Amino acid sequence: MRLISPFVLVLSLSCFFLNVCMAQERTLFSGRLNDSETIVSNFGTFRFGFFSPVNSTSRYAGIWYNTVSVPTVIWVANKDKPINDSSGVISVSQDGNLVVTDGQRRVLWSTNVSSQASANSTVAELLDSGNLVLKEANTDVYLWESFKFPTDSWLPNMLVGTNARSPGENITITSWKNPSDPSPGSYTAALVLAAYPELFILNNDNNNATVWRSGPWNGQMFNGLPDVYAGVFLYRFIVNDDTNGSVTMSYANDSTLRYFYMDYRGSVIRRDWNEARRNWTVGLQVPATDCDLYRRCGQFATCNPRRNPHCACIRGFRPRNLTEWNSGNWSGGCIRRVSLQCNNGTADGFVRLRRMKLPDFAIRSPASEPECLRTCLQTCYCIACAHGLGYGCMIWNGTLVDSQELSVGGMDLYIRLAHSEIKTPDRRPLMIGTALAGGILVVAACGLLARRIVIKKRARKRGTDAEQIFERVEALAGGNKGKLKELPLFEFQVLAAATDNFSLRNKLGQGGFGPVYKGKLPEGQEIAVKRLSQKSGQGLEELVNEVVVISKLQHRNLVKLLGCCIAGEERMLVYEFMPKKSLDFYLFDSVKAKLLDWKTRFNIINGICRGLLYLHRDSRLRIIHRDLKASNILLDENLIPKISDFGLARIFPGNEDEANTRRVVGTYGYMSPEYAMGGVFSEKSDVFSLGVIILEIITGRRNSNSTLLAYVWSIWNEGEIDGLVEPEIFDKLFEKEIRKCVHIGLLCVQEAANDRPSVATVCSMLSSEIVDIPEPKQPAFISRKGVPEAESSENSDLKASINNVSITDVTGR
Ligand SMILES: *[C@@H]1O[C@H](CO)[C@@H](O)[C@H](O)[C@H]1NC(C)=O
Ligand SMILES: *[C@@H]1O[C@H](CO)[C@@H](O)[C@H](O)[C@H]1NC(C)=O
Ligand SMILES: *[C@@H]1O[C@H](CO)[C@@H](O)[C@H](O)[C@H]1NC(C)=O
Ligand SMILES: *[C@@H]1O[C@H](CO)[C@@H](O)[C@H](O)[C@H]1NC(C)=O
Ligand SMILES: *[C@@H]1O[C@H](CO)[C@@H](O)[C@H](O)[C@H]1NC(C)=O
Ligand SMILES: *[C@@H]1O[C@H](CO)[C@@H](O)[C@H](O)[C@H]1NC(C)=O
Ligand SMILES: *[C@@H]1O[C@H](CO)[C@@H](O)[C@H](O)[C@H]1NC(C)=O
Ligand SMILES: *[C@@H]1O[C@H](CO)[C@@H](O)[C@H](O)[C@H]1NC(C)=O
Ligand SMILES: *[C@@H]1O[C@H](CO)[C@@H](O)[C@H](O)[C@H]1NC(C)=O
Ligand SMILES: *[C@@H]1O[C@H](CO)[C@@H](O)[C@H](O)[C@H]1NC(C)=O
Ligand SMILES: *[C@@H]1O[C@H](CO)[C@@H](O)[C@H](O)[C@H]1NC(C)=O
Ligand SMILES: *[C@@H]1O[C@H](CO)[C@@H](O)[C@H](O)[C@H]1NC(C)=O
Repeated sequence: MRLISPFVLVLSLSCFFLNVCMAQERTLFSGRLNDSETIVSNFGTFRFGFFSPVNSTSRYAGIWYNTVSVPTVIWVANKDKPINDSSGVISVSQDGNLVVTDGQRRVLWSTNVSSQASANSTVAELLDSGNLVLKEANTDVYLWESFKFPTDSWLPNMLVGTNARSPGENITITSWKNPSDPSPGSYTAALVLAAYPELFILNNDNNNATVWRSGPWNGQMFNGLPDVYAGVFLYRFIVNDDTNGSVTMSYANDSTLRYFYMDYRGSVIRRDWNEARRNWTVGLQVPATDCDLYRRCGQFATCNPRRNPHCACIRGFRPRNLTEWNSGNWSGGCIRRVSLQCNNGTADGFVRLRRMKLPDFAIRSPASEPECLRTCLQTCYCIACAHGLGYGCMIWNGTLVDSQELSVGGMDLYIRLAHSEIKTPDRRPLMIGTALAGGILVVAACGLLARRIVIKKRARKRGTDAEQIFERVEALAGGNKGKLKELPLFEFQVLAAATDNFSLRNKLGQGGFGPVYKGKLPEGQEIAVKRLSQKSGQGLEELVNEVVVISKLQHRNLVKLLGCCIAGEERMLVYEFMPKKSLDFYLFDSVKAKLLDWKTRFNIINGICRGLLYLHRDSRLRIIHRDLKASNILLDENLIPKISDFGLARIFPGNEDEANTRRVVGTYGYMSPEYAMGGVFSEKSDVFSLGVIILEIITGRRNSNSTLLAYVWSIWNEGEIDGLVEPEIFDKLFEKEIRKCVHIGLLCVQEAANDRPSVATVCSMLSSEIVDIPEPKQPAFISRKGVPEAESSENSDLKASINNVSITDVTGR
């Protein structure tokens, strides 16, 4: 798109490579550059000089990528005053400004800042970040910098945003008119601070009307952009919201050459340089779907790109004009069927919409998160509310527009409706009356009981530890002790009878913290009983952890906890029974491997991914599993995978992305290098394990000592993957899909955590929502030798010392 005329390109490239032309390679510059001269940044990343856009002969002073073979202009000086011949000159003028002049010495563009600077004392420098700066000679005081006056490109480490204290300092990105004309076009992308920081694309030709919005930022991510994530995504976004009305945003450089730009047709596009294709690839583009377009469905309606038609009225609302609505003109939106009562809450209730991109115009409520719904009901003008980590309590008062049903991420949105609307149960939405409004479920009853027993029985120190754990857990869960979720407590005798006194015959296997038995309750229900090892003085923590973690989770790809048992020194967890055992039972057995054909395997990969996604993103808590492996993936009778064994899982407070532990516990072959060597774990360590599992599922081989990764990598580089695939399942019909899975598996096991995709991205790639999959870099090959300190969770006889690093290491907000 931004093509420089071939002539200029050849010229500048020859300057760079051959150094034959007269132009000197320099970074600092205080004299003049004529049309054919350029300067290059220190490490050669960017070049500054004159160029012509594609299909144009006009000359512009600008900056472009010097290292990529596709002409890519990222900044333009005289963008609306082109020069129509080669008489242009860039110079530091008499008054110290950097100026662009034409043949008649008319100033077409100037930095306009040099009142402080005296003549002959300023120099311009092109930095390797792509920033062109004007500064006093021999100092590093910038008088002017191009990063403060971007055109259509947003580069790494460049701050964009608004500054209410000094208006005019707003830094926004504006599109070109078209690929041949860099003058300001129709669209602007801006980071705006309303109740929360939010990204907008505005149409300059239409009173700055919103074209697209990102949804509010919670300190981690934009609600409507679940894939663009502050944490350990491909790049790290930083939003500085100093609460004084100023908000800026940037993202860090990483090993991939990438940048964002505002396309002249109104999309913000992330381009990643693909060295293999020698071209830019589109990494992210918004708006992406019809539903991303602002107010696609009008008010009180939601948009879902996977539904036909996309728009639907929110429950309790009907189309304002049925004729228009049915003809596909949704802009009129919907209106309320029954008006709200508003007698302090007793008559109204809520319907919950899940996974929503939140509507525009949220208001920050002073109410606390647990009080959010109740407060809304008590406030007449509150028509909807939502709450979550980083957002606190948010309410809406006038209208609801631009909400969308997302397939990944999103938040629960509570819509206030009259009581009568809620009573008619058509699609069984969740109803929340006043009584429940404040109550978000908390610690399992069983947990509290355990606490009492433990405090009584244990020595003082032990008791205190347990108490602390429970207190932290309660704090995390909202501190509402009154609303306990009922989790059945099993009596020891019942479980002993169910498992035939824990007979060897009933033993299903050995988990991380003790044996697992099959049992049958008197009513006939089959169960799996995990008996936490008595030897490991830490069974309590693991138990509490698992109870707390699992009792809050509900997902079809997570194993379900039925109850627990605490009796004397005995601690047991009771799960639903999985008749088909665990994944490793099939994968690594040449006979049983035949039972899993490729379709089944692909479904299993997808299921694991969705279960993990739920842990990382969608549940109320952010949970890192830390011990994902084939033997922890159980299969139900329909071969649907269920993630199990949460004894090592960590709950993360919303504002942390990674944590460090002195006690590295996990399983060799599945542990990421940063975790195995440094004890650092994050979502990306789970992604690593997921990658290993994917490759094991495809190849039917165990990753012992990382030999599998090395093997897959070498074959991948040779290009032929047929030999990799478990011969039992190989089918030409699915070759493309298998290849894609190998590709994704390799992305997950890359050495650098930042290079690995998020689980959301992995799921999107699997479901082909993302088609442009980056090339993987070399995986991490770590062997057992490299990790002297690590303990394996396969080893049931763990040392008692926990180094005060308790498993539920959570801090109340
Ligand atoms: C630019 O300057 C160089 C010498 O500095 C000269 O050789 C070249 O002809 C000039 N080009 C133009 C277009 O003036
Ligand atoms: C440049 O001009 C050619 C011929 O008119 C046209 O086919 C091409 O689409 C143009 N390129 C751009 C980017 O406008
Ligand atoms: C360049 O534009 C000026 C007016 O802006 C005009 O006088 C001049 O003839 C043009 N030169 C060429 C080579 O087109
Ligand atoms: C510099 O100042 C002049 C006069 O105030 C103005 O016309 C011009 O647009 C300014 N240039 C830039 C690049 O801001
Ligand atoms: C700037 O430097 C040039 C050459 O070094 C000199 O001729 C000129 O007088 C200087 N101008 C001022 C204002 O110092
Ligand atoms: C800067 O952004 C703020 C917040 O969006 C806005 O209120 C203000 O008008 C903007 N200032 C300018 C000069 O555009
Ligand atoms: C659109 O926004 C720009 C920059 O904030 C401002 O200068 C301009 O006046 C706005 N236009 C309208 C029609 O509001
Ligand atoms: C915000 O403003 C207050 C008062 O003006 C000031 O004390 C405080 O330092 C500011 N905070 C930041 C982060 O700038
Ligand atoms: C580079 O990619 C773009 C699409 O992203 C495509 O239109 C173009 O043809 C590609 N260029 C080359 C040289 O492959
Ligand atoms: C609905 O819209 C149609 C077409 O715009 C219009 O003719 C009709 O009067 C509208 N009906 C009502 C009830 O507003
Ligand atoms: C409901 O509102 C009435 C008056 O508006 C007030 O007297 C009463 O205390 C309120 N009830 C509750 C539970 O807030
Ligand atoms: C909604 O809240 C905003 C900001 O708090 C306020 O300006 C506006 O008047 C309110 N609208 C209604 C209908 O209450």
